[in-house]
Parts: sequence; C-alpha cells; structure tokens
Amino acid sequence: MKEQELDPLRREILGAVETAESREALEEVRISALGRKGRLTALMKTLGTLEAEARRAAGAALNRLKADVEAAIAVASERLHHKDMEERLSQERVDVTLPVEIGGEGRVHPISQTIDELTAIFGEMGFKVAEGPHIEDDFYNFTALNIPPEHPARQEQDTFYLSEQADGTRKVLRTHTSPVQIRTMLAEKPPVRIIVPGRTFRSDHDATHSPMFHQVEGLVIDRTSHMGQLKGCLIEFCRAFFEVEDLPVRFRPSYFPFTEPSAEVDIGCSREGGGLKIGPGGDWLEILGCGMVHPKVLEVCNVDPAEYQGFAFGMGIERIAMLKYGIPDLRSFYDSDLRWLRHYGFLPLEVPSMVTGLQR
Ligand code: PHE
Repeated sequence: MKEQELDPLRREILGAVETAESREALEEVRISALGRKGRLTALMKTLGTLEAEARRAAGAALNRLKADVEAAIAVASERLHHKDMEERLSQERVDVTLPVEIGGEGRVHPISQTIDELTAIFGEMGFKVAEGPHIEDDFYNFTALNIPPEHPARQEQDTFYLSEQADGTRKVLRTHTSPVQIRTMLAEKPPVRIIVPGRTFRSDHDATHSPMFHQVEGLVIDRTSHMGQLKGCLIEFCRAFFEVEDLPVRFRPSYFPFTEPSAEVDIGCSREGGGLKIGPGGDWLEILGCGMVHPKVLEVCNVDPAEYQGFAFGMGIERIAMLKYGIPDLRSFYDSDLRWLRHYGFLPLEVPSMVTGLQR
C-alpha cells in the first residue's frame, strides 16, 4: 500500500472532520474512521496479510494518517466547543433592561420612624446626631453626671451591671443617653448642639416599662445659651412632632442631679369620651425631662461654667411614639409580630427604580 493510495481516504476523512457542524457529528466521523469498525482500523487489520517490507511501509503510512486525523479532530473539537459556548451565551443572556419589581412588603418600625421624624425636626434647628456605647463606664453614666454613689438609680434593682473587672469597677448598660453629653463635651469644643437617639436599659418590665427602650438626648452648649432657648426649642419640637400648632406645653420644676434648674415638660391633651387626644383639652401628659446643664458637669468636661452654659433634655422615644400613633402597649414594640408591624409600621419612601425612574 503506497502513501498516495491513502490520499482519497485522507481527503475524505479530513474533509468530514473540518465540516462537522456539531460535536455529535464530529464524534460520528471519529468512530467511522478510528472506531473498532472504523475504516482506518480495518486497514490496520489488513497489515498482517502483507509481506514484511510492504507491511512496514504501509504501517508507517497508516500511522501518519491516523496521527493527522487525531490532530484534526482535536482542532475541530476545540472549534466546536467555542461554537457551543457562543450559542449558549447568546441564548442565556440576561435582559438587564427588564423592569424590576420593587418589593413593597416591608414596613419601617415605629421606633425607626419616630427617630427619623425627630432627627428631621431637630436637624432643621441645627442639631447634629451623636452616638455613644451601650455598655458604659460608671464614670460616664453616673459620676460625671453628678449622680452620687448613694443615688437610687445606681441600685442593682434599677441598673444592669456587668461583672466586676480587674480594677474592681463594673461596667453598666447605660441607663440613659446622658453619658453621651459627657463624651461629646470631652471630645469637642463648644459650641455643641447634638441630639442622641439610642438604646437604653433599665431593670424594669411591665406594660409601660421595658428592660430595653430608647431615648433621645439633647445638649446645647454655648456662651449665651439660656433657659428661654431651652423652652423655645422644646415647645417648637413638641408642636412640630405632634403636628398640633396650638399644642399647650408647660414646664414644671423638677430635679435631676446633672441639671440646675431642672424641669419636666407636659403637653396638653384631652381624655374626653375615654380616648386620649393630644392637643388643647385641659389635661396634661408628661413627656420629657430637661434643665440647664449643672456647672459641676461642665467642670468635669473642662468647660468653664463662667464662660459657657447650656441646656439638656431627655425623652423616651417609645413614649412619644405611643402617644403620637396611638400604640397602647409598650411591650408590643419588641414582639416582632408581623401583624403588629403591618398595622403600626410605615411604608418607606418610594425608592425610585433605576429603570423606570419615579413613575413605577
Ligand atoms: N437622663 C434623664 C432620664 O433618663 C433625662 C434628662 C436628660 C433630664 C437631660 C434632664 C436633662 O430620666
């Protein structure tokens, strides 16, 4: 068998390999040439019938052809693999221009909503938001605020204490947001104008008390800050927050170790017909504590009381949320009951779709 005699077969097989349209077609070509009953395999089998000399020459020619066919199949296989990939990519392409449905199921928790609202109101008055740790040093939570060692607020039945540290002191879960007054005055030079919405903790649990609740602190320190500004600021806040323009607001003398003078603030309401209505009505509801920052507190924070003075206030966020939105039980805030959240929660502001813009 001469090399040239194999040429028609070579052309035929290599042609079929090159024109194979799919990997399946290529596999068929391979089997018909190199498979057990393939044409090249059949020719190989005839070698045994040849003379030694002729067998060597024919064997070499067949082996070359076999090697060429295998190489051609490898190239074709690579080409078809790419083709498959291209086809799949073009079919599986994601249509990024399809409009996306923005889920409308979630609700904003009344606590978050209330914090957003009061932050917006105080924000317009020039307050910025400050924060502090939930786990506090005794110094920031009590001592620096002029709360004496024997004060009832320090007792175990009111305060959550952590276990004793190496130096004998015990950290506390902050019982109010007031420690952030101290942290801010130690970190920043006056003028100071902050609100501090955040979590607070007291060992208390009934329909109107939760061991974890929220407060918002306010602190203003400046050279000319005075009680008239404290009153104006809080009256303005109460009317804006409760959305009652003629809401009566009154200041009652009170006592806090860290303010002097101190006051509690009541807002007007009516309880006629069993329901509670915020507004003019002859009745009163206490909603917050406030006062002029005590000179001892300023001194601890290296603020000279002869030069600076200021006012502070603190209010319970759940309390004002319950009053504004008519939520009867404090404990329900933390039950994570979806029915409750659907009823008392708020729809978030519409998020504009990147595709459709604001018109969804
Ligand atoms: N920290 C006080 C409380 O938790 C509230 C308060 C804050 C009073 C600031 C006066 C000034 O009851």
